[in-house]
Amino acid sequence: MSQEQRDYYKPKYQNLEDIPGVGPATKTKLGKLGFKTVEALATAPVRLLTQNGFSEETAIKIVSAARKGMALEYITAAEYYEIQKDKLKMTTGCTSLDLLLKGGLETMSITELHGEFGSGKSQICQQLAVTVQLPEAEGGLDGACLYIDTEHVFRPDRVIKIAEGMGLEPASVLKKIIYAEGYTSEHQAVLLENSDEVIKENNIRIIIIDSLTGHFRSEYIGRENLAPRQQKLNQHMHKLIRLARAFNAVAIVTNQVLATPDAFFSKSPDPIGGHIVGHIAHTRILLRKGRDNLRIAKIIASPFLPVGETPFRITDRGITGDELGV
Ligand code: GTP
Ligand code: MG
Repeated sequence: MSQEQRDYYKPKYQNLEDIPGVGPATKTKLGKLGFKTVEALATAPVRLLTQNGFSEETAIKIVSAARKGMALEYITAAEYYEIQKDKLKMTTGCTSLDLLLKGGLETMSITELHGEFGSGKSQICQQLAVTVQLPEAEGGLDGACLYIDTEHVFRPDRVIKIAEGMGLEPASVLKKIIYAEGYTSEHQAVLLENSDEVIKENNIRIIIIDSLTGHFRSEYIGRENLAPRQQKLNQHMHKLIRLARAFNAVAIVTNQVLATPDAFFSKSPDPIGGHIVGHIAHTRILLRKGRDNLRIAKIIASPFLPVGETPFRITDRGITGDELGV
C-alpha cells in the first residue's frame, strides 16, 4: 500500500476514547462486545449495540463518528471504485494457484477452501501464514498473520520449512504468526470478536480460521439445531468480513465437504454450512486429491474470477505448482 492509501485508511480518531461521547464506561461496554478499536467500531452494526444496552441515539452517534474518519459513509460510485482499487492481492507462493487466482488472494473479502480430508486445506493455510510476510515487491503484504486453529493441526516446524524455502528468517516468521486455538464454536467466535486490537497492534493482514465449521458441525447435531447453527455461523462470518474490510486484510476459512455416498458421482461435494457460508464467502475453492499425489484446486464461485481449475503439489517445502507445466 502506498503512504497515501495508508493515510486514507487511517481513522480520524486513534483511540475509542477520542470519539466524542465515548467515555471510560462506554469504552468498557464496547470492549465487552468486542469493539476495542475505532476501525472495528466503524464497521459495527448499530443494532448490535442497541441490543446490548446502548440507546439508539448513542449507538448511531458513536458508530457514525467512527465511520467519519474511515471513509465508510455514503460515497459516490466513483469513490467506491477508488476504494476497490485499494484491494490488494497476496501471493500463495504457488505459481499455479496464483495463476488461477489471477495474481493471488484478495484483501477485504473471504476465500473459502473446502475439500475432503488430506486435500491440502491446512497446508495452504500454513503457507499463507508465511507468504503474507513477504515484502510487497515479492507479492506479500509485509504483514503478520492471525491464525485460529480449531483442530490442533498447526505445525510450527512445517512453517519453518516453508519460511526457509522462501528465504525468510524462520524465527522472525514464527513471531509474526499470532496463534490461538479455538476449543469450541463459542470460543472460536469469542476469539474473533476480540481480535481487533491484536490485528491493529500487530499489523495483521491475513486472518485464517482452520476450520471454520468443524466445531459447529459436531456441536449442533440434528435438524432442530440447524437454524441456530446457521445463525451463529452467519454472525461469525459477518464479523470476519467486517474485520477484513476494516484492516484491508485477506480472510481465509476452511470447510470440510460432506461425505455423501454418491459424492463420487455428483459434480461437486456439498460444503458444510450450506447457503449461509456460501453467500458470505466471496470466493470458494474446492480442493481434491488427484492421481500421483497431485492436488487439484477448482474455483467454484467468485464475484471476480472465472471458474477454472489447476493442479498443485504438497511437498516438503510447502505447496507448489513447479514442474507441473502450468
Ligand atoms: P483435513 O483437515 O483433515 O480435512 O485435511 P486438509 O485438507 O486440511 O489436509 P492437509 O492440508 O492437512 O493435508 C494433509 C496432506 O499434506 C497429507 O496427506 C500429506 O500428504 C501432506 N503433507 C503434510 N505435511 C507434509 C510434509 O511435510 N511433506 C509433504 N511432502 N507432504 C506433507
Ligand atoms: Mg486440515
